[in-house]
Amino acid sequence: MKNYRDYYFKKAKKENYPARSVYKLMEMDKKFGLFKKGQNILDLGASPGSWTKYARSKVGTNGKVVAIDLNELKIPIQQGIVFYQGDILNRDEELEKILMDNSPFDVVLSDMAPKTTGVKITDQSRSLELAEMALDIAIEFLKHNGSFVVKIFNGPDVPDFQKKLRKFFKIVKTYKPKSSRSESKETFFLGFKKQ
Ligand SMILES: C[S@@+](CC[C@H](N)C(=O)[O-])C[C@H]1O[C@@H](n2cnc3c(N)ncnc32)[C@H](O)[C@@H]1O
Repeated sequence: MKNYRDYYFKKAKKENYPARSVYKLMEMDKKFGLFKKGQNILDLGASPGSWTKYARSKVGTNGKVVAIDLNELKIPIQQGIVFYQGDILNRDEELEKILMDNSPFDVVLSDMAPKTTGVKITDQSRSLELAEMALDIAIEFLKHNGSFVVKIFNGPDVPDFQKKLRKFFKIVKTYKPKSSRSESKETFFLGFKKQ
């Protein structure tokens, strides 16, 4: 388990990504073909910025990544990246304006995770709350043929969340990236509006 973590940690450092979580997104992109040149992406829970950096490299100079997090990004905010520092659970006017002005999105990503307390049930319900907010945002701001990727900590309410996803997406997939094998508590759900 530790070796796995070390391997991706070192790889991220070498490849100049601020977090090893980038390999989870890369795996999902390889499997599901998430990104295309010119797309408009929303990245929720973007800090330190490895998903934003990867997505930006995939959408190219005509694309855009809107990154939102409580914390600052640790990557240069280059052209094609719009960053907003704030709380997704408190959608104030400024955040709403960023979403309105930059939408619709081709892909909404959420790698958001609560600060863990160690109390399983609390961590699970906070993760669910973030995932539900990400879904609300996806429902509101995705293109008609858009895709959604969301991380959630496994818990008793996950099947209900999955049911909700099925209402809005034609195809719903679950994915457990190889690079997150050590953190068995997390699963990614993907929703696709078209086949
Ligand atoms: C696992 S990290 C994301 C890593 C990121 N995908 C990357 O590759 O660099 C989870 C992020 O969710 C953010 N987060 C948690 N709760 C949030 C909230 N209510 N609003 C915005 N961001 C939140 C945290 O600040 C943290 O940076």
